[in-house]
Parts: sequence; C-alpha cells; structure tokens
Amino acid sequence: MKTDSALCAQEIAYSYHTRRGKCKAVDSLSCTLLPGRVTAILGASGSGKSTLGLLLAGLLKPDSGVISFQNDREPTPEDVAYLFQFPEQLFSEETVEKELRRNGNVTVEEASRALENVGLHPTDLLGCGPFELSGGQARLVATAVQLTRSSCAVIFDEPTAGLDWKMRANMRRVIRERANEGKIVGLITHHLPFAASVSDDALVLSEGCIKWEGNPEQLMNDSEVRHRLGI
Ligand SMILES: Nc1ncnc2c1ncn2[C@@H]1O[C@H](COP(=O)(O)OP(=O)(O)OP(=O)(O)O)[C@@H](O)[C@H]1O
Ligand SMILES: [Mg+2]
Repeated sequence: MKTDSALCAQEIAYSYHTRRGKCKAVDSLSCTLLPGRVTAILGASGSGKSTLGLLLAGLLKPDSGVISFQNDREPTPEDVAYLFQFPEQLFSEETVEKELRRNGNVTVEEASRALENVGLHPTDLLGCGPFELSGGQARLVATAVQLTRSSCAVIFDEPTAGLDWKMRANMRRVIRERANEGKIVGLITHHLPFAASVSDDALVLSEGCIKWEGNPEQLMNDSEVRHRLGI
C-alpha cells in the first residue's frame, strides 16, 4: 500500500516512568516523514531514536503533542510496520514459516518470496524455529515478516546490526525498494555511512530533541556537527 500523505509529529513529548523517577526520552519534537523518501533518524545512544520510532508507529502514545498523517488520521500499528531494534521481540511462533504466515492470508509461496527478497534461502529456513537463528538471520526474517504486510509506512530500527556486508547490501536494497514503492520509510541507525548511502533526508537527535535536519551527504561532510552530536 502507498500513501500520498506525510507522517507528521507536532510538538510531541514522551517520558518513561521508572522506579528511579521520570525519564524524558522525547521532548517538544516536530518532524515530517515524506512518502517515497527514506528519512534517516540519527543520534548518539540514548538520544531518543527508538522512542521516536515507536511513537511514529503508534506503538507508544505521546504524553503531549500529536502524531498524524497529513490527512489528520492518527497512525495505527496496521499503518506502520516497525522492524524492532531487537528482532526477537516480534517472534512468537514455533517456525519461521508460521511467523511469515501469521499476517492474514499469506501463502507458502508468498512467505518463500519474502525470504528470497531479503536474501535468505526458504528451503533452509522455513522449518527452523525463529529463536534458533543467528542475529543476522533473525533480523532478516523479521524484515521479511514486515514485507508480507501492506502497511503504508515502515520504520527500520538499527537494521544493519549483526549483518555481514552481503546481508547489509540486501538490507540497503530492501529499504530503498520500500521508498520506491511510495511508502514512508524511517531508518533509525547509528551508522552514518549506511544512512548516507540509502536515505534522502536526515534528522539528528540529542536528548530527545532534533538538533540538525538536512541532507545526509551534507552531514557526512560536516565533521563539526557530527562531533558535537556524537555521530
Ligand atoms: N523501556 C524503557 N524504560 C525506561 N527508560 C527507557 C526505556 N527505553 C528507553 N529509555 C530511556 O529513554 C531514553 C531514550 O532511549 P531510546 O531507546 O529511545 O534511545 P536510542 O537513541 O534509541 O538509543 P540506542 O541508540 O542505544 O538504541 C534513554 O535515556 C533510555 O535510557
Ligand atoms: Mg534505539
């Protein structure tokens, strides 16, 4: 499914409540993710990238502010596929085949195609337990599960973690293809060279706020900004 409307956050804030008190993870943040483009969300560890991704995907609700498509509808987890930073968070079935076929009426052929699409061999993997996979395979299987969904937006959270160079090249292609299909694509990553190789726009977070916005190539060439924002 594609969309003509952007995904917008307006003045959103979110805090986690822990035994040690309140931890503000996102603070007065506004941003727009456009359809057909890959938006990289960068920043040092703990800067709020995953929290922003979960808010944009409708998996967390902001304490204040609004997240909506331009047509004013709030996103639901059906609209936005979220590839978790820890992919095993997605798994609950006994086999990879069951994981791939739990979304609606996915046939075995479609499940196999989704695996091939991320560079995995269906014959090797369909019968495996999802918790037996290597870190890289688990991330790619979780990506394939999301590819079987008809969401109009996809958010990839640290999609290259645990991937070797060949898997990374497949992931780059998968990310780019989603944008070429007209979807809204968010790419949360620590890895600026990967972000610059696949994204059109970039946001840099620090302490839950956007501190820089622009073209990822420009960010690659600005060592002062990179140093200041810890990327
Ligand atoms: N479930 C949680 N409970 C309490 N605090 C949390 C929780 N998740 C995140 N935080 C805190 O919220 C802040 C933002 O965390 P978040 O995970 O969004 O950052 P991040 O940029 O994705 O970090 P990383 O690069 O390490 O993945 C951090 O201070 C973090 O410790
Ligand atoms: Mg994170």
